[in-house]
Amino acid sequence: MKCFQVERGIIKLCAAAGELTQTLAQRFVQIAQESARQRGRFMVALSGGSTPKALFELLAQAEFANRISWHDTHIFWGDERCVPHQSDQSNYKMANEAFLSKVPIPASNIHPTVGQSDNPQRSAELYEASIKTIFNAQDSSSVCFDLILLGLGPEGHTASLFPGSPALLPNNCLVMPVYVEALKAYRITFTPTLINQSRHIIFMVSGAGKSDILPQVLEPGEILPAQFIYPIQGTLEWFVDEPAACKLDLTAASSL
Ligand code: 6PG
Repeated sequence: MKCFQVERGIIKLCAAAGELTQTLAQRFVQIAQESARQRGRFMVALSGGSTPKALFELLAQAEFANRISWHDTHIFWGDERCVPHQSDQSNYKMANEAFLSKVPIPASNIHPTVGQSDNPQRSAELYEASIKTIFNAQDSSSVCFDLILLGLGPEGHTASLFPGSPALLPNNCLVMPVYVEALKAYRITFTPTLINQSRHIIFMVSGAGKSDILPQVLEPGEILPAQFIYPIQGTLEWFVDEPAACKLDLTAASSL
């Protein structure tokens, strides 16, 4: 793996998807252990889609699972589709099948959205209230995840923050319901406000299908949804593989 410092954080460039998954699993464990040691718990929000599935499956392997204090770990979702948790479209279902059902994490530490397929607005309100309660947060600005994992869509979306989304406008919400015209579907999503309060934000970007959008997102500016993500005090890391990074110009980036 090669590391580069760029304006939008640190790029961790891996040769292929296999190395990317292994390296990210190591980083996940490192943040989990650091968080549990320093604060007695590890608060993490997972991304959805297909990219993280291999990571989740690896985290279920003893090599990694045995290094995480699951009793201290609390799992949330940075976004969810407004479908039942039994649906193959559900981000909860994918993560539960890939690793949560295979590791000794207390069921009470797994915090999926509720009611998302019936009433997105109510579900988002409930999720935000639940997060504030679990974080024992007096106000929204004190909700600080230890880690938020994010993916990147081919048109620059992340979580369920799509181009033109009202969730990208300045607001004090932590969680919002959004109607995604391109998908003709509702989603529940963390807002940039919540994501940017995190200690560690990690984008996982893999495959040639992301090679056009990745350079656009890493350029200066705040046009694409993923460009609204920039931690206030935390770290921002981009775990990418060569196929996704093949159009990146890193000649000016400082190698770490
Ligand atoms: C979702 C995700 C979404 C995803 C990107 C990338 O619910 O779909 O949270 O933001 O991370 O669309 O998806 P892939 O990993 O499938 O390319």
